Amino acid sequence: MCGIVGYIGNKNTTKILLDGLKELEYRGYDSAGLALVNENDIEIYKALGKLENLKEKTKNILDENFELGIGHTRWATHGKPTELNAHPHCGQYSYIVHNGIIENYKEIKDYLISQGDKFISQTDTEVIVHLFENINNKINDTKQAFKDTISQLKGAFSILLVTKADPGKIFFFKHGSPLILAKGNEPQEILFGSSDAALIGLAQDAIYLEDGVGGVVSKDEIDIFSDNYIWSKLPSSKQFAQKNGYRFFMEKEIYEQSDVVSDCMLGRVKNNSINFDEIDESILDGINEIKICACGTSYHASMAATYLFERLSKVKCNVEVASEFRYKEPLLTNDTLFIVVSQSGETADTLEALKMAKNAGLKTLVICNVDNSSMTRVADATILTRAGIEKGVASTKAFSTQAIVLWMLSLYFAKIKNSISHDLIKKEINAIIQVPKVLIVENKLHEKTRRLSKRYLHGHGFFFIGRDVFYPLAIEGALKLKEISYLHAEGYPAGEMKHGPIALADPELFTIALMPKNTLYDKVKSNVEELSARDSTICSISPLEFELSDDFIKTNDRDHYMLEFFEMLVVLQLLSMEISIRLGNDVDMPRNLAKSVTVE
Ligand code: F6R
Repeated sequence: MCGIVGYIGNKNTTKILLDGLKELEYRGYDSAGLALVNENDIEIYKALGKLENLKEKTKNILDENFELGIGHTRWATHGKPTELNAHPHCGQYSYIVHNGIIENYKEIKDYLISQGDKFISQTDTEVIVHLFENINNKINDTKQAFKDTISQLKGAFSILLVTKADPGKIFFFKHGSPLILAKGNEPQEILFGSSDAALIGLAQDAIYLEDGVGGVVSKDEIDIFSDNYIWSKLPSSKQFAQKNGYRFFMEKEIYEQSDVVSDCMLGRVKNNSINFDEIDESILDGINEIKICACGTSYHASMAATYLFERLSKVKCNVEVASEFRYKEPLLTNDTLFIVVSQSGETADTLEALKMAKNAGLKTLVICNVDNSSMTRVADATILTRAGIEKGVASTKAFSTQAIVLWMLSLYFAKIKNSISHDLIKKEINAIIQVPKVLIVENKLHEKTRRLSKRYLHGHGFFFIGRDVFYPLAIEGALKLKEISYLHAEGYPAGEMKHGPIALADPELFTIALMPKNTLYDKVKSNVEELSARDSTICSISPLEFELSDDFIKTNDRDHYMLEFFEMLVVLQLLSMEISIRLGNDVDMPRNLAKSVTVE
């Protein structure tokens, strides 16, 4: 997480850095800061909270000229979100912005304190700049001091450093977290950004830096300490995300799902068959098993996919949370197709899991929303989800496009393996093409969730329950509610209630029951009856009226369980958004979260 930007050139440095940070604010909004440099003078501006606060603080210097600068937007890892802990961090004469985590910061800090250094923040980052100065003071060679500093760091660190000991330059290094270096459109202009969103329109030629690559730039020179880089073209136009009259990006993105799912299907569903031009049928040669790794919402879409891969493709499939997978010493055999699912393509744990699988010789495939992201560059093959830029921190349209890709992929594999009848494939495809229509948000439905939301603002917790693919959907519904309402919610397989959780049931325990007509209706009904008998307040979501419900959200009568899945997804998204709005929360930027989690 965290976003970093840097600029050298003749334009308005402050404005370019602030605009870049605005594009990266999704990566963290605990604080933001700038270091602005003119020859030997470095000015620092920091503000707690969202970027707006930093803009307010810098409005009087907006017309001043600075020859270069670096900026940061923070998602706190070490040290609370305070102004003192905001980046840039400084030593005696140098300043740094950092994205990542320095795992051995404690030992470096202890050493530096023993040398007489004083620290003012609780961050891991501050050690880097002190270490740099400690070394530079001894050898009086900034380039070598920077290299020596890097060689002592462990963890993830993409950094930009400026120093009065060598003015006019930005030192940079990329390891673990993303960093892009670009040549600006004007002569003598260099830019840096954690993502290309901060650079598009200002530059065309860029290096998506690989891990372990660093260097130093000035107006006249780009000095990269490695041969491991290639220049490529940045996308020419930015997908500007505007709210277009919606109250929140999340709301807009819920309403956009119908369109983006259509885009996602374009060219992939034709003539009663599923095609993916980006992969070919040999992808399943020698494959007996699929393993999926992902985090958060992407993990929930992947969980749902395990049902589809086994049911339709008839391939053994399991899914793991990437952060667990990495450290369990997994047995990896090359008859496994390794799939990672990620909106951003940058999530640290998922990226590392992907690298592990690739290094073990497995075939790898990423299902991702961001082209040119780290994962798309590592994986053997990529399927893009085409959801467009997702601004709301709580993921909505990324999930629906992942789910549709995974459903289509299970049918593509079914075709390769000849595992289901032609008639069944036809039936499934017939359902798939109806999904965009199902995702259109009906006014009546939105209004219903808005009215109901006022009854669900308190209580000691929520159970979201479902069976089959509605179990991952229940977990996703619970996560949406937690993220933006800060109410405690858990998703459970409906059948698990009596194995413990039902002990919590009372009128202040709200059960959101996913009761599709086409999958295990009677089984879920029994589970809900058990909860109702223990006085839990029941809100059922179903096409069938259920007499024990305290509240009932009626969905349409559909003839395929996956169509019910997508319709219920919209209900859950709207309900959590409306609850969050009533609670007065920031729907798009909920507390403690960030959009892209590039630390493990
Ligand atoms: C929740 C949410 C997160 C992400 C998770 C993985 O609304 O957005 O749980 O799904 O951080 O992120 P990606 O998909 O970018 O790997």
